[in-house]
Amino acid sequence: CGIVAYIGHRQASDVIIKGLKRLEYRGYDSAGIALMNGDLNIYKKQGKVSELEKHLEGENLSSTIGIGHTRWATHGEPNDVNAHPHFSESGNLAIIHNGIIENYSSLKEELTNKGYTFKSETDSEVFINFIEDIYKNSKDVSLEEAVRLALTKVVGAYAIVIMSKDNPEQLIAARKGSPLVIGVGKDEFFLASDATPIVEYTNEVIYVNDYEIALIKDGKVSVRDTKDVKMTPYIQKVDLELEAIEKGGFEHFMLKEIYEQPKSIKDCFRGRLKANDGKLVLGGIREYSNALINAERIVIVACGTSWHAGLVAEYIFEEFCRIPVEVEYASEFRYRNPVIKEGDIMFAISQSGETADTLAAMELAKSKGAVVLGVCNVVGSSISRVSHEGVYTHAGPEIGVASTKAFTAQLTVLTMIALRVAHRKGTLAEQRYREILVDLENIPNKVAKALETDKQVEKIAALFKDARNFLYLGRGYNFPVALEGALKLKEISYIHAEGYPAAEMKHGPIALIDEEMPVVFIATRDSSYDKIVSNIQEVKARKGKVIAIVSEGDSLIPGMVDHTIEVPGTHEALMPMVATIPLQLLSYHIAVMRGTNVDQPRNLAKSVTVE
Ligand code: G6P
Repeated sequence: CGIVAYIGHRQASDVIIKGLKRLEYRGYDSAGIALMNGDLNIYKKQGKVSELEKHLEGENLSSTIGIGHTRWATHGEPNDVNAHPHFSESGNLAIIHNGIIENYSSLKEELTNKGYTFKSETDSEVFINFIEDIYKNSKDVSLEEAVRLALTKVVGAYAIVIMSKDNPEQLIAARKGSPLVIGVGKDEFFLASDATPIVEYTNEVIYVNDYEIALIKDGKVSVRDTKDVKMTPYIQKVDLELEAIEKGGFEHFMLKEIYEQPKSIKDCFRGRLKANDGKLVLGGIREYSNALINAERIVIVACGTSWHAGLVAEYIFEEFCRIPVEVEYASEFRYRNPVIKEGDIMFAISQSGETADTLAAMELAKSKGAVVLGVCNVVGSSISRVSHEGVYTHAGPEIGVASTKAFTAQLTVLTMIALRVAHRKGTLAEQRYREILVDLENIPNKVAKALETDKQVEKIAALFKDARNFLYLGRGYNFPVALEGALKLKEISYIHAEGYPAAEMKHGPIALIDEEMPVVFIATRDSSYDKIVSNIQEVKARKGKVIAIVSEGDSLIPGMVDHTIEVPGTHEALMPMVATIPLQLLSYHIAVMRGTNVDQPRNLAKSVTVE
């Protein structure tokens, strides 16, 4: 979910609606706003922020304070009632909340016994009534203090902002586990889940920490923690250009981000890689670099696309560094009593740096003595702060829900780390190391070349847009690419797609193949080339329609398959960065042709801060 709030001298609704649109990628099944326009009023609507905007037409919006929310439903279906903000029972308080209150049912029971009633099915409405109950029933307790007391009893994750009728010129905000940033302007403050709604007004921000409560009043921010200790808010500068969060002439953010990849990969190299000099520096891992080099085992945790990047990294680390690697879904790892020893290295990979399961997996590994290294895109995010050290991907803000440039940037960073370790360990000979550095530095050009397949891919998309299923097959380094290709298609076109190791196809998916079934092979020239050629024949023998991603100049596969897409060759370990490009384009074009909402596909959210 996304939250935005404003207090200052502007018309709050303008700032909030614009901000909610910028945050819409975080969640978008309903939206709402609370304003102090005469009285404390709430307006909310199921659907996109534009629905809320229509709903506000003709209303008196003169308020210089307000809170707004765009939701990704957890408790209760997406409808007008369950949308945020929520009133407390008396109507004195309004809350926006991102996160989950785990003990909400016991709190609800307690409140119900006291006579409270609830309009929605949300944990957030329980939360605000719990605060109201403390506020009303404790003598001489300020609202800020009531919020603090409530937070000591609440279990779960939250970023909240509260407005109140009897304190009409203040906002109270708090965070634990869900992100919250305060933009500091001149006599005005902007609160949001991330800096994107803030940067057009100010680049000075305060990242609220877990267990902190901020009171914004009289042109000042004061911060206390839940133990009532006064904290000194630390104002930082955000390095985010407005143009980075706008579409810049592209029809969708996703397409813009696909096309940004030559640049985002270069940005990832900046100051780190100079192949000619054999230079590779990763400033983010210093203190723990020996621990990494001497590690007996590496565990990688991530979710979604980031997990696929982890799978590629497994192959790279094992091949180059000879360190055993396990890749785990963060959500499985954290609940299965995993074996973690002191000295184990964990990599947590995350674009947003806020994924709840990944964060929890890190905390668990830390508590067992592992060294946790982050690979994140969002600077200052929770995961980057919880990790011991880490390397940022610096791909710039990724707004399209389906991850593209973050994936290739993750691969870039993980490859750099592996090469660095292998070089220091001596598991990769100097000459080979240098050659791969050169190949790596050339990847942006090869990605640019792969983008030139766009028109051709679009034509292929037109032929297959009505397919009901797709199979994606690859081997070795291209196996995770197959998984990622299938995920992209599923996410944005809603076509069922499965990724599989090409050889494993014989043990199941082959039963699905008939003349209706499009099968995408990632069959670039590498050490498993001959084997994948046989797999292509197995599919053709069963009349499947084959689309093959091949290396430039391949003269064998084009004669066997229905469609070929050529991409430039590179070292096989780097191939996923190139081979994935036409697959991103394929899913993009199919989705556009099917008329789905490419940047905000149904039911998905960009930043999954719930477990
Ligand atoms: C969500 C997004 C995916 C993303 C995954 C992991 O499901 O829709 O695009 O890959 O979360 O997110 P993270 O921010 O941790 O990389």
